[in-house]
Amino acid sequence: MRQFILATILSSASAFAVANDAVELRQGYFKLVKYEFGDVMGAMLQAKRPMDQVRFAEASARLDALAGAIDELFPEGSDGADSRAKAEIWSNPTRFETVLTDWQRKVAALNTAVQAGDQASIGAAFKATAAACKACHDDFRSK
Ligand code: HEC
Repeated sequence: MRQFILATILSSASAFAVANDAVELRQGYFKLVKYEFGDVMGAMLQAKRPMDQVRFAEASARLDALAGAIDELFPEGSDGADSRAKAEIWSNPTRFETVLTDWQRKVAALNTAVQAGDQASIGAAFKATAAACKACHDDFRSK
């Protein structure tokens, strides 16, 4: 009985909020992605923030973990007025999956180089990751 009541409360409370919550969660996710990738790693590489190897490696590991946690952030129907997500995400899922997987691979390669302290590869791996962010934005994010 208790379980039934709880289930009823949860389902009625969430019915209207789902689409908006998904957009807010996704936008918050990308703010965090941009913070670790751009405001920490990018800024350090461009000497706009003092280089701190420990924090740089931490940001890279966080980005890699975030990239692996993206799978539930694009539920069908979450392309409402407040979102810049394009309908093509759901109308062309195969292409979206390809672009998304490529990005995850670039992030993983960057993190491998960073954790290994492979200074010669980090710059190129960072640029390749940035290009993969842009590739998805070009096709799947509206202006
Ligand atoms: C697989 C596709 C994809 C990849 C990869 C991707 N993005 Fe995005 N990004 C989006 C979409 C779609 C939105 C729009 C989300 C919305 O408004 O619902 C977005 C939104 C954003 C936003 C705006 C968040 C806000 O304030 O609303 C930022 C900043 C951002 N992305 C940065 C990045 C960075 C940096 C990377 C790479 C490290 C990246 N994104 C990789 C698809 C992607």
